[in-house]
Amino acid sequence: MADPDSRAGMAYITPEILEFVQKIHAPHDVHLQRAFDAPAAEGMPAIQVGPSEGKLLGLLLQISGARKVVELGTLAGYSAIWMARHLPPDGHLWTVEENPKHADVAQANLAAAGLTERVTVVEGEALAVLKVLERHGPFDAVFVDADKTSYDAYGRWAAKHLRPGGLLLADNAFCFKGLMGDTPEAAAVRRLHQETAAAFDSVCIPTPDGLLLGVKRGP
Ligand SMILES: C[S@@+](CC[C@H](N)C(=O)[O-])C[C@H]1O[C@@H](n2cnc3c(N)ncnc32)[C@H](O)[C@@H]1O
Repeated sequence: MADPDSRAGMAYITPEILEFVQKIHAPHDVHLQRAFDAPAAEGMPAIQVGPSEGKLLGLLLQISGARKVVELGTLAGYSAIWMARHLPPDGHLWTVEENPKHADVAQANLAAAGLTERVTVVEGEALAVLKVLERHGPFDAVFVDADKTSYDAYGRWAAKHLRPGGLLLADNAFCFKGLMGDTPEAAAVRRLHQETAAAFDSVCIPTPDGLLLGVKRGP
């Protein structure tokens, strides 16, 4: 059920409600907690997805039968752990991170979680790394969570290298409230929305940050 207020963008979520539902539906074990705490502990920006978004990413991969997945923007490996845990035993996640310290911290967190076989942390700038990853495609899902100025380019890469039925996911799709603004970031994210709607069956899920979901039309 929605009402005029919620349809107009009012959110009924409060910090207390958010904590309650996260604890029930997306609880942390020791490995998720370690990865979630790592950015603050290591002096990195604490800009990882929330627990509910992490679980949502994992469930979307699970229900779509994803096996080969690319993530752009690893940070400390928190979303990577959620996603990797929802892949089948022969599944693989390539997660791309340009900051060497972030990549090292993520590698340690993934190793602690027993996921080194299932996840490859690829250190480098996303657009350059994607050229190298192409040979592993076509992919079943691409999760975009790196710099916003290249969101449109990441979406175009995904449109080309996803299988029909494959998922394009992009966090921060509201561009931190600035989506309608006059910045290069906003323009790139707006283009991602427009181009995704043209090539995918798509929706922007109104999570607190906005999560774009596209299912690639085929064949
Ligand atoms: C929002 S954080 C990723 C959070 C992570 N997906 C999670 O939820 O746990 C964005 C990361 O992308 C990295 N990054 C930003 N621009 C990048 C680029 N062009 N290529 C590769 N990594 C990039 C940053 O260093 C940062 O670690």
